Amino acid sequence: MLPPPLKWAGGKRWQLRYLQPLWKSHSRRRLVEPFCGGLAVALGLEPRRALLNDANPHLVAFYRWLVRGLQIDLPMENDEKLFYAHRRRFNALLEAGDGASHEAAALFYYLNRTGYNGLCRFNRSGQFNVPFGRYDRIHYRRDFTSYRDAFAPWIFMSADFEQVPLERGDFVYADPPYDVEFTKYEKNGFGWTDQERAAERLAHHRGPVVLVNQATPRIDALYRKLGYRVEYLSGPRRISCDGNRAPAREVLATLNL
Ligand SMILES: C[S@@+](CC[C@H](N)C(=O)[O-])C[C@H]1O[C@@H](n2cnc3c(N)ncnc32)[C@H](O)[C@@H]1O
Repeated sequence: MLPPPLKWAGGKRWQLRYLQPLWKSHSRRRLVEPFCGGLAVALGLEPRRALLNDANPHLVAFYRWLVRGLQIDLPMENDEKLFYAHRRRFNALLEAGDGASHEAAALFYYLNRTGYNGLCRFNRSGQFNVPFGRYDRIHYRRDFTSYRDAFAPWIFMSADFEQVPLERGDFVYADPPYDVEFTKYEKNGFGWTDQERAAERLAHHRGPVVLVNQATPRIDALYRKLGYRVEYLSGPRRISCDGNRAPAREVLATLNL
């Protein structure tokens, strides 16, 4: 099994042991991920056919280079000066409309590995503004040709999840940004109406659906109201602001399974 090539917030590798039994008898279907993020699930389930979407165009541009057998020849070091030089160059490419170039994909990988927590954040004018990460050691991969065969039969797209064209028999795994209650800010611009939009759209799908989220009371109520079968999982431990290390409670909601 190939490891996810990037660090990505909300990686669901830990869910594979729950997903594998659900996927097993459907593995001839196409896997559709409207929020594919770091690809932990597709790389773990290894579907023959897949449609993988994420609203982040830089992420998808990087994956499209993996389909072409990416090799990186940029200098890559865990060095603050080099990090900011590469960040400036990446932003210059975006500004020039060259965000889908080979160089931008290589820089995106380097910035993801070297920047703070693997974050992918942009300021109002569209400039990547994640600071240097201060890791002790980083392993950089230069040769991504081993991803080429795995990715070859998969289709990648970058759009809002509602644009993802579903076919009747698709097996959908949907992992939207977590619902965060009691905050004024929408996480990644994904607010409550987007949570409703996602749950409602997938409730109309005829094939199997797995929809996961943080187990907030309103998510629980929404998914039940729409007819999903709801189970709870203990997510990986996260340190909350009061230092409490309780595992996050997660919802795994299914339809037609
Ligand atoms: C929780 S992450 C998915 C993580 C993934 N399952 C993994 O294991 O790495 C949610 C993803 O949704 C994407 N996203 C946010 N809003 C979106 C939208 N409106 N349509 C599609 N994708 C969106 C984000 O860019 C992010 O990568």
